[in-house]
Amino acid sequence: MAGIKNLQDLQNTEYGIKKIFNDAEDFLPILGTDYVELYVGNAKQSAHFYKTAFGFQSEAYAGLETGLKDRVSYVLKQDKIRLVLTTSLVQDGAINKHVNEHGDGVKVIALWVEDATKAFEETTKRGAKPYLKPTKEEDEDGFVIRSGIYTYGETVHIFVERKNYKGTFLPGYKKWESHYNPKPVGLKFIDHMVGNVGWGQMKKWCDFYAKIMGFAQIISFTDDDISTEYTALMSKVMSNGNGRIKFPINEPAEGKKKSQIEEYLDFYNGPGVQHIAVATNDIVRTVKAMRERGVEFLYVPETYYDDLLERVGKIDEDVEVLKENGILIDRDEEGYLLQLFTKPVLDRPTMFFEVIQRKGAQSFGVGNFKALFEAIEREQANRGTL
Ligand code: FE2
Repeated sequence: MAGIKNLQDLQNTEYGIKKIFNDAEDFLPILGTDYVELYVGNAKQSAHFYKTAFGFQSEAYAGLETGLKDRVSYVLKQDKIRLVLTTSLVQDGAINKHVNEHGDGVKVIALWVEDATKAFEETTKRGAKPYLKPTKEEDEDGFVIRSGIYTYGETVHIFVERKNYKGTFLPGYKKWESHYNPKPVGLKFIDHMVGNVGWGQMKKWCDFYAKIMGFAQIISFTDDDISTEYTALMSKVMSNGNGRIKFPINEPAEGKKKSQIEEYLDFYNGPGVQHIAVATNDIVRTVKAMRERGVEFLYVPETYYDDLLERVGKIDEDVEVLKENGILIDRDEEGYLLQLFTKPVLDRPTMFFEVIQRKGAQSFGVGNFKALFEAIEREQANRGTL
């Protein structure tokens, strides 16, 4: 399709954002993101990092003390966001294999549903590869049913039915009481989670979300929209019916040098989650707090702000304050959004976070892609991977 430069063009295409509510089918009603689980090399230390740097709170724990023999999981929470960090306690096995191949990374994007058995049946009947058959887990606080399917790479979706459970996180976990409780930084919920897939694979995975999960495509960007002197990518955004779950899917496109998506695929050894976008309702406060606690953000040149108001029109925030904090702004016809991206939070140049505040805009900041990608290219050049 033709290049889309702004949301006006977007609304004029068949992919208009409003169409989603007609298109997304209801055979898989999703209430929200339930949790995101990362397989990591050292869950205890990762948990300390996400508490300190991102302001997550200690929520739940499972390990030797709760009767597990082979792994340990720390559950962290901030408002509606739940992160689970899991490390193997034994040699070999699926968790170690995942960490060996991919480094630390997202294994599970868990989705909160009314009926995990039906979610499994509806998606596998449409061709999803099963990961976990519907399984009932229970303790004195009730029961949870979970089931799961594979998505891109080794990433999986787990469906969580928790309406009959009132305990901490899941059966088998105990409340994690810690004397170390850094304040939250104002992160509220997961706005979207982006997957990087291989050359020519974007359509396949968008079809997966459309046909198997009943999602609708809301936005498409071609390499005309998203290219700099060196790198290019293509992206489509898939959303479920109520819009609470949004999964942009990226694939690399030909550029003069290696694109950021290829760099990701090389280091992750395949497709996986590229970034988790977390929403705040005060991005200046959130970003300031994260920086003070050691989070590194991508650097945007000050010239970005020179013609900012001409590009985005009137905004509530003081441009000087946004400039001081390196926050990016983009407008679409419904409003505007403020956003900022961290550098990769892991050893490999793979996953990073986005902090986003929406003021009406429902798009993803396409107007910032060029400035952003140039910032990423500077980082790639430093790593010798451009
Ligand atoms: Fe994003």
